[in-house]
Amino acid sequence: MKKDILTLLDLSKKDFEMLFELALELKKKHKNQIADMPLAGKTLGLLFDKQSTRTRISFETAMIQLGGTPIFISAKDTQIARDEPVRDTARVLSKYVDCLAIRTYSQKLLEEFSKFTTIPVINALTDTYHPCQILSDLLTVIEHKGGYEGIKITWVGDGNNVSHSWINAAFVLGLNLTLACPEGFFPDQKIIEKARDKGSGKIVITSDTLEAAKDADVIYTDVWASMGQENEHIVRKQAFKSFQVDKKLLEVAAKDVIVMHCLPAHRGEEISEEVLEGKHSVVWDQAENKLHMHKAVLKTLISR
Ligand code: CP
Ligand code: NVA
Repeated sequence: MKKDILTLLDLSKKDFEMLFELALELKKKHKNQIADMPLAGKTLGLLFDKQSTRTRISFETAMIQLGGTPIFISAKDTQIARDEPVRDTARVLSKYVDCLAIRTYSQKLLEEFSKFTTIPVINALTDTYHPCQILSDLLTVIEHKGGYEGIKITWVGDGNNVSHSWINAAFVLGLNLTLACPEGFFPDQKIIEKARDKGSGKIVITSDTLEAAKDADVIYTDVWASMGQENEHIVRKQAFKSFQVDKKLLEVAAKDVIVMHCLPAHRGEEISEEVLEGKHSVVWDQAENKLHMHKAVLKTLISR
C-alpha cells in the first residue's frame, strides 16, 4: 500500500479488502474489550482547516485506542495562516509526528503536503474528495448487505467531494453506482475519466431520481451545500428541491434498501426527517464505523 491516502485511487482492490478485514477484526476486539495497542509511542497530527465532528473525534479516538497520541492542530492557529509555505510546514511536521490527517479546501494543497512530508498523509476531506468516509461506508454496506458486489448503489444529490470518492471506489472495486444529480451539479467529468482508467465500475449519471432509486439496495445522500459553499445555499436549495431522499423514493427501491448519509444531515432538505429516523436508515452505524475504519487505516499506515 502507498504511503498516503489522498484519494481512493491510491488503493488497490486488495488494499480495500485488507482494510475491511482489519477494521472488522479491530471492531470485534473493541466490542470484546480486547486492547490492541500497536501504536504506543506514535503520534498522529490532525491538521484541520474546516469544521469536523465525526472525522476528527473518530481519528483521535482511534489513535488513543491503538495506544498512540493524537494532536489536533487548528490550521488557523498555525503559521500557515500567516503564509508560512506548505513545503516548510510539511518538512517540520514530519520531524514531530508519525502521520498527518489533513482536512482542508484544496486537494492541491494536500498533494503538496504529501510531496514534502516523509510521513503518511491522510485526506480527512477536501473540496474534491472524502476517501476515508467511503472506506467506512463500504464497511457499513458489507455489514448490512453481506458485500458490495452485484448490488445497486444510488447517490442522490450534489456531485460533490463525497460523490467523487464513491466514483473512485466504484471503478477500483467494480461497483454498480447510479448518481442522480440536478443539471449543473453533476460530478466532475475529469474525476470520472481519471477513475475510469483504474478499473471497471458501472456508472450511470442521471437527473431522474425515481429511475435512479428504482430497485436500489443502497440510497446515499449528502448536504446540498458543502463546507465552503455556504453563500450558494439559497440558489442550491432551489436547484435541489426535488432531490430529497423521502418516502416516495424508498417506495421504488428494493424492499430492504438501506439509507446512508455521511452526516451532518439537514432534515427537510436532502433527506426527510421520517427517512433519516426510519427503519431503513443506517446513519448511526456509518458514524460508528468511522472509528473502526480509521483504526485500520492508522494501524496499516503507521506500523508499515
Ligand atoms: N462525515 C463527516 O466527515 O463528518 P464531520 O464533518 O463531522 O467530520
Ligand atoms: N460534502 C460535505 C461532507 C461533510 C462531511 C462537505 O464537504 O461539507
